[in-house]
Amino acid sequence: MLYLSKKDLLDLLDCNDIISAIERAYDIQDKGNFIMPDRMHIHYDDNTLLYMPCVIESSYATKLVSVFPGNKDKNLPVVDGIVVLNDKHTGVVNAMIDGQVLTAIRTGAVGGTAVKHLAKEDVKVLGVIGCGVQGYYQALFASQVRDFDEVIVYDAYGYNPLFKETFDNLSIAGSPNELVEKADVIITATTSHDPIFDTDKVKGKTFVGIGSFKPNMREYSDAFLKHMDHILVDTPFAKDETGDLKLPLEDGIISESDIQLFSPKFLEGTVFFKSVGMALFDNVVAEKLYLKAVELKKGIELEA
Ligand SMILES: NC(=O)c1ccc[n+]([C@@H]2O[C@H](COP(=O)([O-])OP(=O)(O)OC[C@H]3O[C@@H](n4cnc5c(N)ncnc54)[C@H](O)[C@@H]3O)[C@@H](O)[C@H]2O)c1
Repeated sequence: MLYLSKKDLLDLLDCNDIISAIERAYDIQDKGNFIMPDRMHIHYDDNTLLYMPCVIESSYATKLVSVFPGNKDKNLPVVDGIVVLNDKHTGVVNAMIDGQVLTAIRTGAVGGTAVKHLAKEDVKVLGVIGCGVQGYYQALFASQVRDFDEVIVYDAYGYNPLFKETFDNLSIAGSPNELVEKADVIITATTSHDPIFDTDKVKGKTFVGIGSFKPNMREYSDAFLKHMDHILVDTPFAKDETGDLKLPLEDGIISESDIQLFSPKFLEGTVFFKSVGMALFDNVVAEKLYLKAVELKKGIELEA
């Protein structure tokens, strides 16, 4: 069994490779060629444990992931976990993979894939609200698929130092509204429970929502949704999981028919892509990284 650490994953990282894996996941989702039960959520206090299995044609994978928002104050990661990748035909465990970096990479690639297909070709300014772990990987992947002149960031509490180390075209917005008004593509990756901006100057822009994955979490307001020409989700269960959609659906602000499942094609107008993530993404990305690790002889072989 191969163990792939954070460092192994970062050594193996090629953003375009991972974006291709996410495109493969959408194709598998479209064809229905996978088995993915609803992920199990266990909630206590403000913390969540998620158990996320998935089977695809070539392998199966299970992610055990924890989301502890209070860890920020303890200088510990909010999202942590492990992914187990098995051989489809024998059940043998092929790899155990660090879930913290795998999640960040695959979520970055989900955002990057959305920007690649949904944003106009000539966008110039990327805005990121929520500049922790996911926010950084969102910016990294988005920058692979569009040539941004400027990256504007905003965080209510503090900034992942990797932003400064990676982007030389970085500036900090004075407020979320200022960021939204200046940017062409806006990605939100906060742990917020309430909408994070209220400007109505959103026309023609592309929005990617990453942060909210529970009904009591929200980054986007009802008023924002009313301005959207297209609302897309990465997986059908996003509608039941995120407060960004579940609450507006219950209140009749939007209806089920306003929400489409993402497919890789450009849509004219103002677009909101909402991701909650799914085990299918973890499975395809884990498989891709495992095969590359075997080829390049990375990772540590663990004895059974
Ligand atoms: N869609 C997915 O597939 C997916 C995958 C992984 C994580 N997530 C979610 O993304 C969120 C962020 O995760 P993370 O690992 O980056 O956490 P993190 O704590 O590293 O980063 C979150 C950042 O948001 C900032 N923030 C919180 N509230 C804010 C507000 N109102 N305005 C501006 N900034 C604010 C915090 O200061 C922090 O820097 C979590 O809710 C997590 O569950 C989603």
